[in-house]
Parts: sequence; C-alpha cells; structure tokens
Amino acid sequence: MGGNAPLFSKLSDALASFTGGSGSAIGLSIGSSSIKLVELQKVKKTWKLQHFAMVPLPDDALSNREIINHISVVESIKALIDPSKMKLKSKQVCSAMAGTSLIIKRMMVEVPKISELQDSIFWEAEQYLPFDAQEVVMDFQVLSRGKDNKTDVILVAVKKSVLDTYMNCILDAGLKPKIMDTEFFALQNVFEANYPMDPSKAVAIVDIGATSIKIVVVHGGVPVYTKDTSLGGRNLTAEIEKHLNLSFVDAESLKVSGHATGMPQEVSDLMGVMADNFAVEIRRALDFYNASSSGAPVEFILLGGGSSKIPELSRLVEDKVGLPTQILNPFNAISYDPAVFSPEYIAEIGPLAAVPIGLALRAGAR
Ligand SMILES: Nc1ncnc2c1ncn2[C@@H]1O[C@H](COP(=O)(O)OP(=O)(O)OP(=O)(O)O)[C@@H](O)[C@H]1O
Ligand SMILES: [Mg+2]
Repeated sequence: MGGNAPLFSKLSDALASFTGGSGSAIGLSIGSSSIKLVELQKVKKTWKLQHFAMVPLPDDALSNREIINHISVVESIKALIDPSKMKLKSKQVCSAMAGTSLIIKRMMVEVPKISELQDSIFWEAEQYLPFDAQEVVMDFQVLSRGKDNKTDVILVAVKKSVLDTYMNCILDAGLKPKIMDTEFFALQNVFEANYPMDPSKAVAIVDIGATSIKIVVVHGGVPVYTKDTSLGGRNLTAEIEKHLNLSFVDAESLKVSGHATGMPQEVSDLMGVMADNFAVEIRRALDFYNASSSGAPVEFILLGGGSSKIPELSRLVEDKVGLPTQILNPFNAISYDPAVFSPEYIAEIGPLAAVPIGLALRAGAR
C-alpha cells in the first residue's frame, strides 16, 4: 500500500528532491517505441539541457505499456547510458507509467479525523478498482479539505506487478528509480514550467505516442481529468505497411522521414485519415470532460509525443475540436547551449522530449 514504494512524486513530497547536490535531474521515459532520457542541470533558478538521448525498442518489448521483454528494456537502457557516449552526473532517475495498469481518480471522502484519511480513501478505492486490492499500490494527494470534513483527493493506483517490472528494469540497468511518476503528471509539469498562465483557465495537454494518446486537463494546478486511449502512431505505420505492401521498418521510415524526400500521395492520405482519428479521440475525451466535470471548459490544447509531428496535425485538431491548438514546446523555459544543440535539433526533439523533460523537472523539484 501507499508509502512503501517511491511512488508518484506529486504525491510524495518528501521524495521529490534528489538532485543529490550535483544540481542535475534525470527523467527516463520508457515508451512503447523507444526509451528517452533527459538530464537537466540547475543554473541559478532555471534549468538547462545537459543531455537528450533515445534508443528504439523492439516492438514486442512493451504491450499495452506493460514491459513484456525485460532483457531488451534493460539492454536498451544500458545502451542509452553507455558512459562512452554520455556521462551522467547522477544515477537517480524519475520514470513514469501509463496504460491500463494505472488508475488516477479524483474522489471526495468524508472523514472526521485526518488520521483516518488514508484508510478511508483506500477502503473506498477498493470498491471500484478493477484489480484485486492485494495487487495494487496506492498513493494519494489531498487537494482540499472543507469544514464539513469532506476531503477532495486524487488517488493513484497501479498494479504492483507492473510497477515492479519498471523498477527492476531501471535497477538492472544500473540506475536508481527514485520516483515513479505518471506520464500525466509529467505532462502537467512540462506544461506548467513552460507556459505560465492564469490558473483559472483549463488546458488540455495531449501526448500522442506510438501506441497511445494520453490526455490530461489541468485546471488550477490540478490534473482534473486524465484519459489514455490505445491509438497511436503505430496504427498509422500499420496502415502504410498494409496499403503499400511494405515491411514495418520501411513503412515507419517512410512515415517519419518522408516529409523531406517527398511522400507518395497514398501515404499523405493515410496520414490525413489517421490525424483525423486522433482529433476525433481528443474531441471525444474533451466532450466527456466538459459533460461530466464541474471544472472550467478547456480553452486550448497543447500537443506532444512523436506522433504530434504529423504535418498539419495541430491545424487539424484545431478544426475538428474547435479549440486553439499548438505543439508544446518544452524549451520555452529550458535553456540549452546552441553550440551543443542546434535550434533545428531542438525543434526536432521537442515533441519527443516533453514527457522526459516533465520527469526531469519532477526529479529536480524543490
Ligand atoms: N516526423 C514524424 N512524423 C510522424 N510520426 C512520427 C514522426 N516522428 C516520430 N513519429 C512517430 O511517433 C511515435 C513515437 O512517439 P513517442 O516516442 O512519443 O512514442 P512512445 O513514447 O514510444 O509511445 P507511447 O507513449 O505510446 O508508449 C512513433 O509511432 C513514430 O512513428
Ligand atoms: Mg510516450
């Protein structure tokens, strides 16, 4: 149960600072298609990019965001942090989970004594968790507590077996998993650090990866709504593979690098259709949020993740959802040395770096 694992940084303030005196903070994101690492260095009160690196994962390494192939994940992390390529200042990392083994729920509990809060939250949570309580690790954060003893909390529950596979891979690769966060909170972090704005406005941050779309609505500094759908860039690759009779690898490379070399019309068309599907998923989620939540309506959308690089995606989402939409720039507030990272490279990695930067920021939070 809560407290016995370095879980969900947002919820465990005591664990939320471990730059270890070196002023460096590392985010490690284990995604379905690749593992990405960001090291940030504290410079006075701001953060500067020290390292960004990624390694591809074989497509059977994860399934539904559960690690299936331990060895290939461990070997990939080891390759990523190979000391001949990159000298990290610390081994302590913040990583994150997503997928159906993770549940985030906002709930209202009524307890006379604050000392009874945890028992009461966990008891209530057990009523509707789709897993056996014995198999779950839970943590929570109190958002507010009224005079009537009604307490507004955010609960995070995760399947212990899945959490363990993440932690074990990180450990076996020689790193220390100091915090396991959720990708939703990482998106919130990267947004808040880079887009200072009126907290009364609600914003949707959307990460479109290889196998999933993660959506978090942030309002008043709180992740008021989260949604994870299993549609992503890999669906587009599969369509290209099928329609052009290509291997997965060729379809993927045509998709990712075809913009520069000229893309067959058929591929552009398939991209347009998939972009439309992504936009529909986002609209559905936001319609649901608007209908079921008492929170403020979403005012704009920020897109991240590798699949947000589909040309014209933000314009398409803007049209379909009817809200201003931009690609999230995680380097608005994070500096970098232009002699080391060219502006073109920074623009290229921006969408991919959103989650790992959010994790690094959490690692370095005070
Ligand atoms: N330039 C590009 N145009 C279109 N798609 C791209 C481009 N670059 C990367 N992608 C796609 O982005 C996806 C990878 O994005 P990302 O690294 O954010 O996913 P992930 O974190 O591995 O997956 P998930 O978050 O779903 O577990 C792949 O499907 C890849 O094909
Ligand atoms: Mg991802």
